[in-house]
Amino acid sequence: MSETLERWGSKRAFILAVTGAAVGLGNIWRFPYVAGENGGAAFLLIYVGFVLLLGIPVMMAEILIGRAGRRGPIQALGALAMDAGASANWRWLGIFGAFTVFCILSFYSVVSGWSIEFLVASVNGQFSGATAAEIGAGFDAFLASPGLLIFNHSLFLFMTMTVVAAGVSKGLERLNNLLMPLLYGLLLLLAGYAATTDGFSTALAWLFLPSFEALTPTVVLHAMGHAFFTLAVGACALMAYGAYMPEDQSLPKAAVAVAALDISVALLAGIAIFSVVFAQGMDPAEGPGLMFVTLPIAFAELPGGVVWLSVFFLLLLLATWTSAINLAEPMVVTLQGLGCRRSIATAIVALSVWLMGLLSAFSFSTLADFRPLFGRNAFELVSSIPPDVFLPLGGLMIAIFAAWVMPRATAMKALGAGEGGYLLWRNVVRWVSIPLTFIVLLGGLL
Ligand code: PHE
Ligand code: NA
Repeated sequence: MSETLERWGSKRAFILAVTGAAVGLGNIWRFPYVAGENGGAAFLLIYVGFVLLLGIPVMMAEILIGRAGRRGPIQALGALAMDAGASANWRWLGIFGAFTVFCILSFYSVVSGWSIEFLVASVNGQFSGATAAEIGAGFDAFLASPGLLIFNHSLFLFMTMTVVAAGVSKGLERLNNLLMPLLYGLLLLLAGYAATTDGFSTALAWLFLPSFEALTPTVVLHAMGHAFFTLAVGACALMAYGAYMPEDQSLPKAAVAVAALDISVALLAGIAIFSVVFAQGMDPAEGPGLMFVTLPIAFAELPGGVVWLSVFFLLLLLATWTSAINLAEPMVVTLQGLGCRRSIATAIVALSVWLMGLLSAFSFSTLADFRPLFGRNAFELVSSIPPDVFLPLGGLMIAIFAAWVMPRATAMKALGAGEGGYLLWRNVVRWVSIPLTFIVLLGGLL
């Protein structure tokens, strides 16, 4: 397959596309509940540390490979490996990435479906006047209805695959341009409201004053996995976007901008959600339902709350949409590389992700006690192992490829930061990111 001539329309469009991939359920849904289960501030501190030491440098490695290859991930890895005189087996890294996003998208679509349901419920005024207990019970009843979960999962997947079938770079640019500032503004408003509740100071202490008693290798592994997940790094998905990067853009600047936006969205969501948790005397370790229960409670008390709540779920849905499109892209490109037409490839991906998603959808009812591995059910498995293990493993291989295998001249040109910038990046990846990822993976797994 030859090089692509397609490019993002501008530097800003590229940054927005990557931010669109990064900002999603990871920031607003996953960060608060995983932090809640892993001790709060200590988790936050370690996860931000991993973003700086691993997330940003490996994000640069991943995008750099795509930009140097100007092809889909598998072809790019194959072609670049050949140029470097290395084994064509590096292609398997692209296939592993496709498998990783397959698992992730299967639960991502189910949970994004929850925001469709909540958007509709909120527009219909179902949360107005409801008590915290009623909202909690309503969420449990919703999870126990696999038919509803599957309906919303199907709808979300359909939305995603329609955009993917049409080709990624065109429609996404405009969508992201509009959405990101809106989402940001709304989160600021929510955090502002949170500051007026009596849970606010407890929430700040809980998020920002670490206590390291609860720290185990598993918590550190979760924090590392989350750093990769939230930045969308490690599955060759950003590699696919890097192929369309403009010629004259600095990759380090773009990566730092994306990471800063991504972290600040997580912080704002965390402050808003935990203020409500503490104001209502709820349990921070409540699990995947955390955001879906706390936010309706918070908004129910705000003037005009129902409107804001609806807008919030709409934005959340749009944020997960741009992430899901990025998750689907590597699989579609992979099938295209095997000779499928784009429309057929999209249909195959849609169908198989839909089927896999059923396992997650049934995990809250019929299959709740089907626990094939580590005592976890299907939803718990797909929402933890691929983010915590597959992404760091993929990221590790991506980093090794970019910093050890790729010829210096090729990598330096694709990084777009001059010789000094290249050497700095390469040293960090070689001597910090790679060993650290390896050690944490090993420590967490043993
Ligand atoms: N970064 C996305 C989020 O935070 C999830 C994602 C992971 C997207 C991996 C693409 C690849 O929701
Ligand atoms: Na994210």
